[in-house]
Amino acid sequence: MDKNITLRFRKNGTFRILMISDLQETVNYDPRALRGLEAMISKTRPDLVVFGGDNADGRHLKTEAELSRYLEIFSRPMEEKKIPWMHVFGNHDYDIDVPAKKQMKMYAACPHCLSKTSPAGVPGVSNYVVPVLSSKSDLPAYAIFAFDTMYKLNSPKAGVPVEDILLEGNEPWTRKWDTLTFDQIAWYRRESKKLEKAAGGVVRAMAVMHVPPYEFQRVIDNPEKCRLEGFADQKLQCSMFNSGVFSAMLERGDVEIIAAGHLHRDNFAGEYAGILCTLDGCAGFSVKNFDERRGGRLFVINEKGGRKTEFISAAALLEEKE
Ligand SMILES: [Fe+2]
Repeated sequence: MDKNITLRFRKNGTFRILMISDLQETVNYDPRALRGLEAMISKTRPDLVVFGGDNADGRHLKTEAELSRYLEIFSRPMEEKKIPWMHVFGNHDYDIDVPAKKQMKMYAACPHCLSKTSPAGVPGVSNYVVPVLSSKSDLPAYAIFAFDTMYKLNSPKAGVPVEDILLEGNEPWTRKWDTLTFDQIAWYRRESKKLEKAAGGVVRAMAVMHVPPYEFQRVIDNPEKCRLEGFADQKLQCSMFNSGVFSAMLERGDVEIIAAGHLHRDNFAGEYAGILCTLDGCAGFSVKNFDERRGGRLFVINEKGGRKTEFISAAALLEEKE
C-alpha cells in the first residue's frame, strides 16, 4: 500500500503530531467528540494525527457497516484537510465483531491513512513504522513506531490460568491486559536497525501504543523527579508482566517519546530514563470523565533535537468557540 504520502520535517525544522487516544465513540456519538477533534486539529495544525487505540467503542459498535460509517465520520476532519493520519488498535477495538485484519483494511482504505498491517510473524495487527524524512534530504530523520497491545492476557500462553498467577502485588486492574510479545520487540529492533543503516546514524523515534508499558508507573510514583505535568490520579492499567519493550528502546537509544492512552481520567507527561512518557486516555465525550480532562496531545519535534509536548483540552476549545 503505497499512497505516495511522504512525511517530512517542515522547512523550519519542526514536525507536529497530534495524538488522539480513546476517542471511543459509536455511530451515535456525542457531537462534541467530532467538533472537539476538528477544533484540536485547527488549533494544533498537525503534520500527522495519530489515533492511540480504543478509537471506537466496540462494546456498542459491533458491525462492519457501523465501523464503516464511523470511520467515514471520524476520518473526515483529516481527510478534508488532507492531513496524513495513522492508528493503533486498543482493547475496545478488539471488542468489535470485525476481525482486526479486516478493520485494518477499512482504515487503510481511507486516502490519507498511513496505517499498515503488521508483517508476517509479528503478533497483533497494528505494528508498523512510519518514517519522517529530513527537511533537507530524503533520508529518514525521525520514525513513528506503532505497537499493537492487543487484548486480554492470553493465559494459556503460559499454560496456567490467570487466577493462578495472580500474586500479592498484582493489582486487580493489571491482570487482564496482554503484554507485548518478544516477536513484537524483535520486529522493533530490526526496523530500528534498518533505519539506522539507511540514515547512517540512529534515527530518533516516537512509539505509540494503547496500553502503557510497565515503566509508566514509575513516572506516576515519582512526579517530581520525572517532572510530571498533568493528572496521574490512577494506578496504571498495564499488563502484570513487564514486556521488556522499554529496556529494548533504551538499548537502541532511538525512542524518545512513548505515547499511550487507555486510562480515561488521566493525562500526563513525565520523563523517565530520558524517554518522555505521555498518557492521554480520553479524546471523546461519551466515556465517564471530567470534561476538562478530555482532549489530545500535541508533540512538536525539532529536527535538530528536542521535543515539546502540550495537552490540548477539547472541552476548553469548544467553550472558546461558543
Ligand atoms: Fe483501553
